[in-house]
Amino acid sequence: MTKRTIGNDEVGAIGLGCMGMSYAYGPADEAESVSVLRRALELGVNHWDTADMYGSGANEILLAKVLKDHRDEVFLATKFANVYDRTLTSHQDLVAGNAGWIVDGTPEYVHRAFEVSAQRLGVDHVDLYYQHRVDDRVAIEETVGAMAELVAAGKVRYLGLSEVSAESIRRAHAVHPIAAVQCELSLWTRDFVEDVVPVCDELGITFVPYSPLGRGFLTGQIKSIDDLPEDDWRRSNPRFQGDAFAKNFEIVEQVKLIAAAHDATPAQVALAWVLALSPGFAPIPGTKRVKYLEENAAAADLELTPTEIETLTAIEPPVGSRYPAAFAGFLKR
Ligand SMILES: NC(=O)c1ccc[n+]([C@@H]2O[C@H](COP(=O)([O-])OP(=O)(O)OC[C@H]3O[C@@H](n4cnc5c(N)ncnc54)[C@H](OP(=O)(O)O)[C@@H]3O)[C@@H](O)[C@H]2O)c1
Repeated sequence: MTKRTIGNDEVGAIGLGCMGMSYAYGPADEAESVSVLRRALELGVNHWDTADMYGSGANEILLAKVLKDHRDEVFLATKFANVYDRTLTSHQDLVAGNAGWIVDGTPEYVHRAFEVSAQRLGVDHVDLYYQHRVDDRVAIEETVGAMAELVAAGKVRYLGLSEVSAESIRRAHAVHPIAAVQCELSLWTRDFVEDVVPVCDELGITFVPYSPLGRGFLTGQIKSIDDLPEDDWRRSNPRFQGDAFAKNFEIVEQVKLIAAAHDATPAQVALAWVLALSPGFAPIPGTKRVKYLEENAAAADLELTPTEIETLTAIEPPVGSRYPAAFAGFLKR
């Protein structure tokens, strides 16, 4: 596995998003998820991404099963700030855009959330601690100040931010060096390329593209919304709905053409394109299946030609926003 850099550490060029093992994308088989985690280490896929909110802690507890014997082999990232508030579940709240979620970036919460995550993960430190969403009630300097206290205490090695604006990155970085910024980036999501990526390059921050497979859409394996389980979060994603789905599948057809030329899969082409965009990117495709993990890991060796990269880069934007309206207010703050 070729490498990418986060802070002073080298990580596998392809990381592992663990969210789907416990949250958002239908049921998962725990034994298979544990096999994915073990196989990941054999393949050099050592950059693991989780968050306290994935399955309300279940994802961190799942990772602990493998971390207990392999902590030193993993570059472990987790996140805080998204809190499910059971008092905010009325229809009015949904319409108001908070959907029952609040964001907590208060210094007191930073410390409390870390202790809970560390306990669930069964670790004494995490390598990368992200603020998952920016709390617009709290100055980012205050939140990052508290995160920096975790670094000083030896509990966290590097700090990260997710779904942030270029301005927030600069303000945060002035308080304590930010090692990684995690935002959505893929063939069908370019929202951060023009503004956030250049600031990361300037400040020496690794950009971690999340959902690099377009939440599975770009792999071509989801042929209709009916392929998704009833409780799958993607059913609420505008890009997966109605006419948008059919139109967006034209993107997949273009990816398939290039995949065929390499005897590769569309997933591998989607990942190879992300890796080719910048040596400063460390993508974290998500899967709960060993077969997909192996396929994705092999994408690190897939070299696209400059013409292919150009063709892929020129793909028209998809139809539909990347999140349902209820989540939009929390993004890129
Ligand atoms: N910071 C944030 O706000 C944020 C938001 C979303 C995600 N993330 C992180 O980013 C990670 C990745 O994003 P994601 O999981 O949303 O989306 P993704 O990586 O774009 O896609 C994951 C989906 O693709 C499928 N898949 C993976 N490899 C495949 C292959 N080779 N062939 C066919 N299908 C394949 C998976 O199926 P199976 O599930 O069946 O394996 C899953 O449904 C997450 O796990 C999470 O850690 C962060």
